[in-house]
Amino acid sequence: MTVPLKHSDPITVNVALGDRTYDIIIGRDVLPSLGARISALRPGVRTAIVTDRTVAKHWLKATEASLAEAGIATSHIVVEEGEGSKSYAGLEKVSEALIAAKIERNDLVVALGGGVVGDLAGFAAAILRRGVDFVQVPTSLLAQVDSSVGGKTGINSPKGKNLLGAFHQPVLVVADTAVLDTLSPRQFRSGYAEVAKYGVLGDAAFFAWLEANHAEIVRGGSAREHAIATSCRAKAAIVARDERENGERALLNLGHTFGHALEAATGFSDRLFHGEGVSVGMVLAAQLSAQLGMIGDADATRVQHHLAEAGLPTRLQDIAGFTQEGLADADALMGLMAQDKKVKRGKLTFILLEAVGQAVIAGDVEPALVHDFLARKLAANKM
Ligand code: GLY
Repeated sequence: MTVPLKHSDPITVNVALGDRTYDIIIGRDVLPSLGARISALRPGVRTAIVTDRTVAKHWLKATEASLAEAGIATSHIVVEEGEGSKSYAGLEKVSEALIAAKIERNDLVVALGGGVVGDLAGFAAAILRRGVDFVQVPTSLLAQVDSSVGGKTGINSPKGKNLLGAFHQPVLVVADTAVLDTLSPRQFRSGYAEVAKYGVLGDAAFFAWLEANHAEIVRGGSAREHAIATSCRAKAAIVARDERENGERALLNLGHTFGHALEAATGFSDRLFHGEGVSVGMVLAAQLSAQLGMIGDADATRVQHHLAEAGLPTRLQDIAGFTQEGLADADALMGLMAQDKKVKRGKLTFILLEAVGQAVIAGDVEPALVHDFLARKLAANKM
């Protein structure tokens, strides 16, 4: 697999969904082109930008300037940073502000931020006046390779993550890879887990390329655009075939059944970022696959080794405070997984591996087997 040495022109990845088809524009310094792109797509449109405090500090001015330059009227709504904004209260705040800003059916909501802002603003757009269009301007690696693409929007219920939401596709995604330079190393690594996920679940060659090139992605050379574009192409292809997750889209949940439970067990706090939970979850899924004889132990170790090398947590004991505060026990983790959307008629759905680069949906995993597996992991990690 060859990679251009210099930053190239922006890369366009198309998400082919009939009359809801849209482009993802990926490149260094593409944010200034946002206004021109929106105006070409929707001449005469008005916009409201939804963002959070930290992103506003870095990128709101540049975003507003780009819209102003294209003659697009805009206002902005700033929410608190963090998962807490993906709540009934956060939705109320954004929806009321959009109504106050007189955003109408033909106007556009611009989601400028990471996964929280994208999910929240997208859901507010989905229900405002029974649906207005929105544009995703993802500012975290995680959002650029996963949450801004594919139209999943929503908020959390106190009873679980993403339990309320809608499929609402954006009309455009503009992913400026230079914006990622302001992320903390930990946030960047967290997003990297989702990049690695695409290799593990469906592209052995990409996984091997990541093993050799992951440091370059962090440094911000052209490898970064290549990794993001490859991830988006993989997701776009799956979403185009299965928009509503009736089948293969579930493969994108690799690492998420365990990961969501671990996030819930740590109170969706800074103890475990989403991508970190996915990293630990992906390793657990690989180890469970090995236990079931679907892959060899060496394959599971290979996945773990790469994620650890990229600086991600890969074991339960890597989770902050695990030794002091512990984690939920196996019963509690099972309860948290049962709350997740990945449960059907009492059986757990797991994404397991038949090879590194080939995931499968296992829709009937016996809860008792998973309980024993988790109990052993929790006990082993405490020693
Ligand atoms: N993040 C998984 C999906 O979009 O389906």
